[in-house]
Amino acid sequence: MDRSRLNFDDIVRGRRSVRQYAPDPVPAELVVEVLEAARWAPSPHGRMPWRFAVLTQPTPKAMLADAMAAEWLRNLEMDDQPPDVVATRLRKSRQRVMAAPVLVLPCLYLADLDHYPDLQRQQAETTMAIQSVGAAIQNMLLKAYQLGLDGGWMCAPLFCPAVVVGALELDHALIPQALITLGYAAADPKRRERLPLDQLVVRWD
Ligand SMILES: Cc1cc2nc3c(=O)[nH]c(=O)nc-3n(C[C@H](O)[C@H](O)[C@H](O)COP(=O)(O)O)c2cc1C
Repeated sequence: MDRSRLNFDDIVRGRRSVRQYAPDPVPAELVVEVLEAARWAPSPHGRMPWRFAVLTQPTPKAMLADAMAAEWLRNLEMDDQPPDVVATRLRKSRQRVMAAPVLVLPCLYLADLDHYPDLQRQQAETTMAIQSVGAAIQNMLLKAYQLGLDGGWMCAPLFCPAVVVGALELDHALIPQALITLGYAAADPKRRERLPLDQLVVRWD
């Protein structure tokens, strides 16, 4: 389907999390358009507390996948998961990272934000920045969908940000927040329903 003429509602409702991709490569110009959309997200004080690492090559993808897998293995062992379950989950997660044609790693960058003497305001400032990274990610996912691409959201880097920074030799001021996979869906993804509005709006006046 040509998605270039979709209206806003079609894009918002049509976008779905994709976890398996066809092997087709994604043109770099499309990745740039996706990142452009992220750039226009709202942010606290307009400070844009986000930076992005883009991975398309097998070697850096494998470095990332292996580093995250080692960390996840430690966590799963702490949870006393049976070894065969652990092995399957690690294999699937690695496969997901390696098979996605493009990986975008959105990172939090706090250096340009305001600094407060008290913890409460400082935490609120950080929360605002995290919220705006989420807004940037949503812009990316919607733009990707409009461009005929599909995207998926993996939270894994959030559990081992320092490991990810080390594996990819990123600036230590960056705090990875997620891993966004981009590509062309291998099959139509599962379409999860949503709660009706009357269960979501808890007060209107
Ligand atoms: C903050 C966040 C973290 C997520 N982490 C993961 C993840 O680690 N793995 C995954 O498969 N999906 C992840 N998702 C995707 C959700 O599972 C998905 O958005 C949700 O089930 C609704 O489905 P849809 O995106 O297809 O509408 C995440 C979504 C968000 C917003």
